[in-house]
Amino acid sequence: MEYSALLAGRRSTRRFDTARDVPDDVLEQVLAAPLAMPHAGNTYDWRGVVLRRRDRDAATWPAVHAALLGQSYVEEAAVVVAFAVQPGWWAERYRANIAALVDRGLIDPARHAGLLAMVDAGPGDSDFLTTGLIGEAMMGVAAAMLAALDAGLGATVTACRPAELAAAIGLPDGAVLCPWGVLAIGWPAADDEPPAAGGSQPEEAGAGRPPAAAPKPGLDEMYFGRRWGQSLATPVL
Ligand SMILES: Cc1cc2nc3c(=O)[nH]c(=O)nc-3n(C[C@H](O)[C@H](O)[C@H](O)COP(=O)(O)O)c2cc1C
Repeated sequence: MEYSALLAGRRSTRRFDTARDVPDDVLEQVLAAPLAMPHAGNTYDWRGVVLRRRDRDAATWPAVHAALLGQSYVEEAAVVVAFAVQPGWWAERYRANIAALVDRGLIDPARHAGLLAMVDAGPGDSDFLTTGLIGEAMMGVAAAMLAALDAGLGATVTACRPAELAAAIGLPDGAVLCPWGVLAIGWPAADDEPPAAGGSQPEEAGAGRPPAAAPKPGLDEMYFGRRWGQSLATPVL
């Protein structure tokens, strides 16, 4: 699909077809997409826990579903992927990875003195590092979501209670769940209905896949020109 058409048609799916699984090769494309995204030092510390509906463990799924707020479309989704990052693992490998990129001629040490100085200084503040790594992982979540849509699937980023979900999927010490890094994927249900006009539908009510995208703010609201608060349309020269 053309990228612009894919973006224009993207919306969250809140009702999945429970009769259809996602074929392995399609799922593989979706799971590979995050690796097409950049990552500091080419390190890729993130990991995804893939939960397929067909493999659900009756003993553990209820806790996972509860941590995902018990939402109906999560129950219906053929696949749920939860992403986590590993700041300590990243810090151990980053320096060597940068050195490898320099060896390959991809990073010019003379022109990247600032980057190398940052590497020498170490990972620094762990909150800062974790925040940065979660941001990088979220680029991957976006890539996976768009790859799913490109394959004709529906995909919805979905909220969770992070500590509960981390425990339910067995995250080890040192792994930090991306609190907004859970993706529910599946074929949109054929009988999706738009939300009732004017009705207030809680997100978790699974109101269906609306025929039009949710209203979005204009670019003039989202971007400033040159300085915070200045209009993009009339930047001060
Ligand atoms: C971090 C994040 C968490 C979200 N959590 C939920 C959720 O728990 N349940 C839900 O129905 N939608 C959830 N959404 C979807 C948003 O409600 C949706 O993106 C927004 O209403 C805009 O609609 P659209 O995605 O169709 O354009 C989430 C989206 C993001 C980015």
